[in-house]
Amino acid sequence: MDLLQEYIERHIDAEPPQLAELYRKANIRLLNPRMVAGHTQGRLLKMLVRIFNPKRVLEIGTFTGYATLCMAEGLRQDGEIHTIEIDDELEEFILEEFEKSPLKHRIHLHIGNALDVIPKLEGMFDMAFIDGDKRQYCASYEALFEKISDGGLIVADNTLWGGKVVQQPHPADLHTSEILRFNSMIAADTRVEKVILPIRDGLTIIYKIPNDTPPDPSKSFP
Ligand SMILES: C[S@@+](CC[C@H](N)C(=O)[O-])C[C@H]1O[C@@H](n2cnc3c(N)ncnc32)[C@H](O)[C@@H]1O
Repeated sequence: MDLLQEYIERHIDAEPPQLAELYRKANIRLLNPRMVAGHTQGRLLKMLVRIFNPKRVLEIGTFTGYATLCMAEGLRQDGEIHTIEIDDELEEFILEEFEKSPLKHRIHLHIGNALDVIPKLEGMFDMAFIDGDKRQYCASYEALFEKISDGGLIVADNTLWGGKVVQQPHPADLHTSEILRFNSMIAADTRVEKVILPIRDGLTIIYKIPNDTPPDPSKSFP
């Protein structure tokens, strides 16, 4: 771990013991453990939920359930989180972790492709975390947008894609081209306000502007 990252982790809220253990377990048992959100991003997700106070949260891409548990920690008493994972081989691992958590009653796991599951989910969500297949980011955004309440928040992970978004010429792989397409799509979407945080692999925070919002005065600055 680099020195700055180590410094950050020593000066933010500690990682809860269950999550530190989950992280170790993922490193031993799973391929690609680096996909786990980890200490800093996990605390940030919890903080966003705390501040934004959503009643219903939707996550695309559960993997180990690390980020799910972080967001569940920040939820209000009547809040719930739905998380979708395509890989059914992860189900046992995930459920084992959720079962250990005192927040398990607030978490609903859906095994399947997010693009099939999302249209079947009932009701609206106040916040979503897009962290599934990078090659489906635009489709995921389009599938969930109508399910996000006005004034809702969408957070998308890995939007700087290891810096490949600024490499010239752009790498030709499907992941990079879809992340580039996603970033351009969000930049051009006038229904939302957005900011990219250069945290970890890039985190885009997207706010769905309510229909009755008066025009943004900053848009008329010369
Ligand atoms: C980066 S990991 C998620 C990490 C997790 N959100 C966290 O922060 O700890 C991406 C996960 O998305 C899953 N995934 C990929 N495509 C998906 C899809 N179409 N629907 C649901 N899950 C998908 C993968 O199997 C993988 O477990």
